[in-house]
Amino acid sequence: MDNMLAGNLRIIKSLYAKSLADLLSSGKTIETIIDEITNLDFATMSGLDSKLSGNPHQWKSIFEKYGDSISFVTDSTSMIVGYWHFLALKEDFFKKVLNGEMEDEEITVRTVQPFHAPGSYDVYFVGVAIHDQHRGYRINRILYASFLKILNDLSRRNMHIRSLCANVLTEKGAVLSETLGLKPLRAHKRRGNIYLKINQIDNENAVSPTKQDSLALGI
Ligand SMILES: CC(C)(COP(=O)(O)OP(=O)(O)OC[C@H]1O[C@@H](n2cnc3c(N)ncnc32)[C@H](O)[C@@H]1OP(=O)(O)O)[C@@H](O)C(=O)NCCC(=O)NCCS
Repeated sequence: MDNMLAGNLRIIKSLYAKSLADLLSSGKTIETIIDEITNLDFATMSGLDSKLSGNPHQWKSIFEKYGDSISFVTDSTSMIVGYWHFLALKEDFFKKVLNGEMEDEEITVRTVQPFHAPGSYDVYFVGVAIHDQHRGYRINRILYASFLKILNDLSRRNMHIRSLCANVLTEKGAVLSETLGLKPLRAHKRRGNIYLKINQIDNENAVSPTKQDSLALGI
């Protein structure tokens, strides 16, 4: 009985960090990946609608072009059970976000600022969600480690996060945002609250992993 329980727990706790490229090479398509994370969003966030969630066609073009700033966790059945996604946005569009006037359905490849050259970037957190049954320290640690790894990679290429913002829709999202140092800025015009963190670029980028984080996470 104990062995069975231990076996089940092992299955429940088998979690794998995956990039978009990993998922594509495992046989998933961009369409099925978008479908899975959209289902995860709607299952975990009440009050979500198509304006806030966007549409599969829009995300397909963005994933195809800017798939490096999204990260997933899958379970032993290869189902996506957690993910986060951020994008750097062009200046004018980012202002619209800060004013609480942007709906995620408006994000297109033309409003994204590609991470191409050294410099400062304004980042919008498009989404983060973890399946109810997989919440806890371990999956958070995996997701956080992959987030720090991407920031580290950008930082090594002299690309710094000048500001980080999100439209926070849930209480859990507010806790997570505050943990990352984001502060409430204003209400979104329709739903949610805009949170923002501005970094001192000349002080390296404060969103970069601290030495302590990097050591703890082995990155
Ligand atoms: C937002 C969300 C991803 C946060 O995940 P969560 O598991 O609920 O987060 P919690 O703050 O409860 O943290 C869970 C555990 O991970 C730990 N943790 C959180 N961040 C961590 C980090 N960066 N590194 C290590 N551990 C961390 C916490 O200490 C906590 O540990 P405990 O269980 O031992 O107390 C999740 O609640 C979710 O998917 N919600 C629905 C979707 C949603 O609301 N998204 C945000 C929209 S704005």
